[in-house]
Amino acid sequence: MKNFISVNDVSDINALVAKALAYKKNPFAHRTLGADKRIGLLFLNPSLRTRLSTQVAAKNLGMEAIVFNVDKEGWALEFEEGAIMSGNTVEHVKDAAPILGQYFDILCIRTFPSLKNREDDYSELVMNSFVQYAGVPIISLESATLHPLQSLTDILTIKETFAATHKPKIVLTWAPHVKPLPQCVANSFAQWINAWGESDFVITHPEHYELSDQYTRGATIITNQNEALKDADFVYVKNWSTYNDYGKIYSNDPYWMLTEEKMLLTNNAKVMHCLPVRRNVELSDEILDSQNSLVTKQAGNRVWAAQAVISEILTPSP
Ligand code: CP
Repeated sequence: MKNFISVNDVSDINALVAKALAYKKNPFAHRTLGADKRIGLLFLNPSLRTRLSTQVAAKNLGMEAIVFNVDKEGWALEFEEGAIMSGNTVEHVKDAAPILGQYFDILCIRTFPSLKNREDDYSELVMNSFVQYAGVPIISLESATLHPLQSLTDILTIKETFAATHKPKIVLTWAPHVKPLPQCVANSFAQWINAWGESDFVITHPEHYELSDQYTRGATIITNQNEALKDADFVYVKNWSTYNDYGKIYSNDPYWMLTEEKMLLTNNAKVMHCLPVRRNVELSDEILDSQNSLVTKQAGNRVWAAQAVISEILTPSP
């Protein structure tokens, strides 16, 4: 594996999941694989789980992890080609990224979308600039449109939880939120579940909340949440802002919050969320605190997903 930016960088999802689950059983199986190597974690936006789980994963492989909060501690970076830098940006990525590539063996980037200009966000200028200029492997810690480490974790959590008596029905449901949020987690989850291809995959959202069909193609899309939830084995709850009329909140209808009553429609489904979650807005206390909630297990699994990806990058291809 050269970079880890999307599911397209993964040749075999099940093999990568198996590797992550093997690390869960034996975290120090390859404790010297990353000896004398450094991984740089660059944050242009906040994080709790991604930052700490990736640090733990690197440490398990014997690698030194250095975190740099670019948004708070670094020079303001410019990404536009040919920019006349007479404004607030101080350093061009063309200058910064190759230097970071000399300091680190792997570079990881977290960058959120602006939610103002869809074309700019979906061009993935920030992530692609690091891929272009750093000269070392790049791992996405969430980009403007995708969150691949989260999605790998999600599939491994589903696989380790589900007793495979039938093809699982997985429902991705939109949930209310007070702020416009990126589409990244939902895009990425849809992209990975479709590529995995081992489930009956349904997406449900209010009208006007369609995601980009480059990620959802292959899923069944239903705007009636109750109909979608019927017989679900897993319900993945997530808010996202509008894609077509970009970055807006049209509806904050509390009806869309998952409740115990709606759970009765499901096959005693397990409930997933990437976290952080706004309790009693996106998901009710009763669900989050119930036996059906996988959110803590899911967040714990972030370590093993990150460890499998770093390990793949460190292991030379045969
Ligand atoms: N799910 C997730 O990416 O969490 P953080 O934003 O805390 O890293």
